[in-house]
Amino acid sequence: MNEVTTFSATVSATIRDGILVVTIDNAPVNATSADVRSGLEKALAHADAAPGIRGVVITGAGKTFIGGADIREFGKPAIEPILPVVIEKIEASSKPVVAALNGAALGGGLELALACHYRIASPSAQVGLPEVKLGIVPGAGGTQRLPRLIGVPAAIELIASGRIAKAKEALSLCILDELAETDLVDAAIEAARRLTGASPRKTGELTAAPADPTEIDKASGKILAKARGQKAPAEAVRLVASSHRPLAAGLADERATFLTLRDSREAAALRHIFFAEREASKVAGLEGIDARPVVTIGICGLGLMGSGIAVAALGAGYTVIGLDQSLEAAQKGRQRIIGLLERNLASGRLDQAGFEAQATRLSVTVTDADLAPCDLVIEAVFDDLTVKIDLFRRLDKVVRPETILATNTSYLNPDEIAAATAHPERVLGLHFFSPAHVMRLLEVVRCKETALDVLATGLAVAKRLRKLPVVTGVTEGFIGNRIFSAYRREAEYLLEDGALPHEIDAALEDYGFPMGLFAVYDMAGLEIAWARRKRQAAIRDPSERYVEIADRLCEAGRLGQKSGRGWYAYPDGKRTIDPEVTAIIEAERAKRSIAARSFSQDEIQKRLLNAMAAEGEALLAEGIAARASDIDLVMINGYGFPAYKGGPMFAKS
Ligand code: 3HC
Repeated sequence: MNEVTTFSATVSATIRDGILVVTIDNAPVNATSADVRSGLEKALAHADAAPGIRGVVITGAGKTFIGGADIREFGKPAIEPILPVVIEKIEASSKPVVAALNGAALGGGLELALACHYRIASPSAQVGLPEVKLGIVPGAGGTQRLPRLIGVPAAIELIASGRIAKAKEALSLCILDELAETDLVDAAIEAARRLTGASPRKTGELTAAPADPTEIDKASGKILAKARGQKAPAEAVRLVASSHRPLAAGLADERATFLTLRDSREAAALRHIFFAEREASKVAGLEGIDARPVVTIGICGLGLMGSGIAVAALGAGYTVIGLDQSLEAAQKGRQRIIGLLERNLASGRLDQAGFEAQATRLSVTVTDADLAPCDLVIEAVFDDLTVKIDLFRRLDKVVRPETILATNTSYLNPDEIAAATAHPERVLGLHFFSPAHVMRLLEVVRCKETALDVLATGLAVAKRLRKLPVVTGVTEGFIGNRIFSAYRREAEYLLEDGALPHEIDAALEDYGFPMGLFAVYDMAGLEIAWARRKRQAAIRDPSERYVEIADRLCEAGRLGQKSGRGWYAYPDGKRTIDPEVTAIIEAERAKRSIAARSFSQDEIQKRLLNAMAAEGEALLAEGIAARASDIDLVMINGYGFPAYKGGPMFAKS
């Protein structure tokens, strides 16, 4: 057996065929923490000094090559050697250094690989510089070495978007030199042996051809428009576009930009979200609780929501049985689902074999008993308590005792639905957001009696559906819609107090929301909320402030874009301020003797943010949400709150 040399707690090596095979073992993702950096530095020095060693292979233990710099070290004093220095030593090594990518090489991990003299990967590896998603730019040479390898436009596209590329694409882009057909490390040793003798090819010494401004605009235009309001993507474009400078100048600029951005509020917000996403599925009390196996999912109600859920479930490999009231509705649902799969096929998200496999796993029925094989049934029928209770009672009779029943209700009380069944412990809420095959957020509603393994199953299914699950207790509207109600209420108070819809929307869009609240209402249609307000009129607390402006709009037939007008007019489809709306608002103010005053953008933003955060605090106090960061995730992923502001709870902190 080869003798193992230990360079640090996380870096060790063996010598095979004269090649030093260095393995980074720093669970969970082999981040380049201080110990890894110092271990690598020592390993390189050892290789340089040992005459018997002819080359070096660097690889990772486990399923990741290197997940990047250690994000948990950000904000702490730097510990030497810093990553750029280690990377420069790799590139300067007199002996060939081969990166053997056993899995994802991200951020600093890819930057390290770029400085190696050869890159070979297993076919399942992935590469990317996702730093912009953390509000920073690559800080260890990525913006300078990647364009030298693949050209400025391709590097801009990857770095400014933070997109991850699979091994095959990375090979075709020339980020990788080779994909290992057989054993990765054997192939890497072979490559290192081939390279000995010749002077190693140094990425940093390649010439970066300057790109012309049209090419730069073409590569960056859409990405920067989408990243409106954020600094990192634009900085990434600037750095890559100027990579034809001497390497040292480019690296110095990159490092300075990285350090400035790393300490920004934007980066702190995005780091908060990175960790929040990973925390969200950790639920106290679920440690050691196994999820129930789920193979077949029943979906009741094949309207827009049910069809979206079906597409997500088919995509995750589940067998789906759809149930609807009539043969016609079931067939229509089936057609809609197949149509969505066809769209995935046309866009290349799905290949022909995948399409056929998914279509084969779908069946539809009108007979409750056909749901008998289901491990989980999700209902997405009309949001009416009587309808849902009736359905759950019927399901109780046809499914196995261990089958889990989930309601997708947005506003009803799932405890009442559960109580109507024979086994309330197997009921939970799975609140999808529309369109369900696209939106990542999934509120997992823990009812009074939900069993722990049922909750664990809800979370496991959510993960497999590639959703972002956030656990919520039972309250009107759960986490998201309850905060949204508080936010909407405050916006209506602002209207009555003197702001106009376009002023509120402009303040929200300036803050970073993709679209203002009133523009969103118009897009979604005003009538559902109107019907709800009418239903609630009888139980509304008369002492509570209630703004009637939206009711007046609906009474005037202004039901949103569908009716051609709502909070705005839409001549030629273009959102336009409508004096008729202003007149309605002014009339309501006059009726209540409210003297309108003007509001600055800052004031509007603060009032809306405060309203959201205050409702968030209430949800925490009531134990509906477990963590402030869960609330931030819900508002970012379900309601357009800008991620780079960290969510309403973070923004207020
Ligand atoms: N630093 C510190 N911790 C990290 C980390 C990192 N770069 N990447 C992941 N982790 C932690 C997670 O917080 C999580 O911790 P937990 O178990 O305590 O919750 C654990 O590793 C596992 O992470 P995931 O659940 O995300 O594991 P997956 O297997 O699903 O995904 C991954 C692995 C694809 C590597 C994913 O973790 C990932 O995308 N990581 C971040 C990659 C990234 O952004 N890298 C750039 C960092 S910045 C940088 O490199 C700057 C440089 O330019 C100088």
